[in-house]
Amino acid sequence: MEPSILVTGGAGFIGSNFIRTWLEESQGSVITVDKGTYAAGSNNLAGLAADRRLRFVAGDIADRGLMRELLGEHRPAAVVNFAAETHVDRSILFPEEFVQANVMGTFNLLDEVRQYWKGLPSAEKDGFRFLQVSTDEVYGSLPLDELPCDESKVPAPNSPYAASKAAADQFVRAFNQTYGLPTQIARCCNNYGPYQHPEKLIPLMIHKALREEPLPIYGDGKQTRDWLYVSDHCAALRSLIESGRAGELYNISARAERTNMEVVSTICVLLDERCPRKSGSYAELIAHVADRPGHDRRYALDSSKLVGELGWRAEESFESGLEKTVRWYLANIEWVTAVADGGAYKDWMAVNYVQRRSR
Ligand code: TYD
Repeated sequence: MEPSILVTGGAGFIGSNFIRTWLEESQGSVITVDKGTYAAGSNNLAGLAADRRLRFVAGDIADRGLMRELLGEHRPAAVVNFAAETHVDRSILFPEEFVQANVMGTFNLLDEVRQYWKGLPSAEKDGFRFLQVSTDEVYGSLPLDELPCDESKVPAPNSPYAASKAAADQFVRAFNQTYGLPTQIARCCNNYGPYQHPEKLIPLMIHKALREEPLPIYGDGKQTRDWLYVSDHCAALRSLIESGRAGELYNISARAERTNMEVVSTICVLLDERCPRKSGSYAELIAHVADRPGHDRRYALDSSKLVGELGWRAEESFESGLEKTVRWYLANIEWVTAVADGGAYKDWMAVNYVQRRSR
């Protein structure tokens, strides 16, 4: 029987995609713990309820008693930590929540995993993995004339979100160096795809366009992000758990840099083709609004280490991935509506966007 894994934040965007593909690709079981914040879709794991290899537990990774109990009961061969607050704009307004969830949460989880790992038989100890799902944002903004950065770049986080993830990464590293815990850190570029909360750029723009609302571009829209389709990220994480080295840091990217204006214009073209407006293009809804404070101009990652060591390759180009994403959102309007019609989303739209209107 294949061993089980413990996945934190499994009801979130990347966590739920990861669990879905893990169960497709492996025979083992998955225990997932999720706190159920606004970002955790109650039906992100829909369709998997009948799979008896999945156990869902509502809870917080900072709840050490719960984590101890689950680790002891299920004896996972790996822990994958997706649980995090992830939205930069929210971190600007509510930074403390990010320290609690991302720094303290990761620390408490790590410390419980360390105790569990110490008690494993030596044959299982070496093969165990604690995989921290991190982000390119910890590196800070990359000048336009520089090559995409590799893992040797010293972190220089600019937002409270990025700082909280960088701090968590440092604890993961320290637990490897000090206690020998076989950790890995994966720093991925911007993800997109099914089940992404419509507070993030791509689903937000699809959702607003379909409602004929203005498409809010922060500042000049020439900021660039490096985009990866979520299932390609999940495949990279699977290969890290299976064959990546312990104590290592790996970047994950398919080198698809696009400006925000390019991303939003492409979404508009895809929507024009699939569900045309009564007159004109969706691009006419684009509206520049006040910029994000401390807005990083560019992220771009070099993932030669991952490609060279594990042979990972992305299956989707940005164009094919974006097309799939638009198709998914059009086919799952009720999923987006359930999120967007909730009070928490409406409150967020008011808090984040009303003050940005005049530029
Ligand atoms: P986001 O999806 O929040 O991801 P991140 O900040 O983690 O990269 O934003 C992606 C880019 O899109 C970023 O440069 C900010 C920009 N953006 C807008 O221009 N308008 C918006 O309404 C949002 C949410 C983001």
